Amino acid sequence: MSDLIITNLSELATPTGSTPRRGRQQASIKRYARAAVWCRGGRIAFVGSAEELSARFGPQAEIPRLDGNGGTLIPGLVDPHTHLPWAGSREHEFAQRLCGKSYQDIAASGGGILATVRATRDADEEELVKLVSKRLDRMLELGTTTAEAKSGYGLNLDDELKQLRAIRAASSEHPVDLVATLLAAHETPPEYLDRRGYYLDLICKEIVPRVAEEKLAVFSDVFCEQGIFSLEESRRVLEAGAEYGLAPRLHADEFVDSGGARLAAELGALSADHLIAVSDAGIEALAESGVTAVLLPGTSFFLMRHNYAPARRLIEAGVPIALATDCNPGSSHTESMPMVLALAVFELGLSVEEALTAATLNAACCLGLGDEIGSIEVGKRADLVLLDAPNAFHLAYHYGVNLISAVVKNGMVVKQ
Ligand code: NIG
Ligand code: FE
Repeated sequence: MSDLIITNLSELATPTGSTPRRGRQQASIKRYARAAVWCRGGRIAFVGSAEELSARFGPQAEIPRLDGNGGTLIPGLVDPHTHLPWAGSREHEFAQRLCGKSYQDIAASGGGILATVRATRDADEEELVKLVSKRLDRMLELGTTTAEAKSGYGLNLDDELKQLRAIRAASSEHPVDLVATLLAAHETPPEYLDRRGYYLDLICKEIVPRVAEEKLAVFSDVFCEQGIFSLEESRRVLEAGAEYGLAPRLHADEFVDSGGARLAAELGALSADHLIAVSDAGIEALAESGVTAVLLPGTSFFLMRHNYAPARRLIEAGVPIALATDCNPGSSHTESMPMVLALAVFELGLSVEEALTAATLNAACCLGLGDEIGSIEVGKRADLVLLDAPNAFHLAYHYGVNLISAVVKNGMVVKQ
């Protein structure tokens, strides 16, 4: 792995540390003017001013350079909640929603998650790998260097395994790193509708052990929501996962408060995600237990609900906030973390600094990767994004365009 020096930056902006930033710390961003970064062996070896770099190490004329062109360097974006391995597409449902039908009505009439389950079951692993790779190309273009990816459109042993294998295969051939989550409890498959208990048995007794044995996932997740999986069912699934080493995270309180946030706190989950309908008690429980809230404003936007998670109350209570795309074909069809960052500023009321921390360090921490990625500091992996902008404010200020002019992954320029 060769070295790389990045110079001619007007600004470098990064959160610091390897643990989640909460409360006022969420807005604490270190800024360097006219910065330079030296990457060695895929990691960051120096961060500081260009003058200091040459004073300490000499001119280093032989080392390859990335010209910052007066732009801004930020950490590679981390997307901690996606549903990447799906087949098919649901624009007809989108059209119905534009005519006023609700997401829940569409699901109740056989569409929604189950429509994607049918298409994903019909696809083979190779097809899924191609689909995931294409989505990863888009993510990289938009500055994401690490993402989480869930199964959950297979809903039986073979098809859940197929999705998780596709995640592994696509990630191994692509600069973007994926961390896999088992989400067999995304919905009850049609063949188990009148015997839900058996599906839970299948998850806990067959799918979880097999996924753990093949090391196909790091996390387990459940859609804990009224009409999907109850609190007790969710607890059972997540406890079964934890027994096999799959750390819990969950879809919580998206449409109604069903106690998902409190369950996340009770289980010491790595994150509670969505939280649009979270209660005050839920917020308190998250704050006390240190669970990260992963907010998905793209989902509120795409579902046109004009109803966003209470981000300011969460921050004031001391809950660390991370941001994610929720990339999926039904409720948030986007790979764009910059879009999510802009929505977080415009609709969740985050400052640009809070949003930047949420999309980098806090996102990395809730994937268990806070020591490795999420900030530009000596010793961390050199995953970096160059913006064609004089400072990080442009992430929201200049919205709706792709400002990313280069991406560095493990010290190598992978997009320019
Ligand atoms: O995170 N909330 C549950 N699952 C997805 C939606 C998946 C779909 O509609 O296909 C979500 O929003
Ligand atoms: Fe989701």
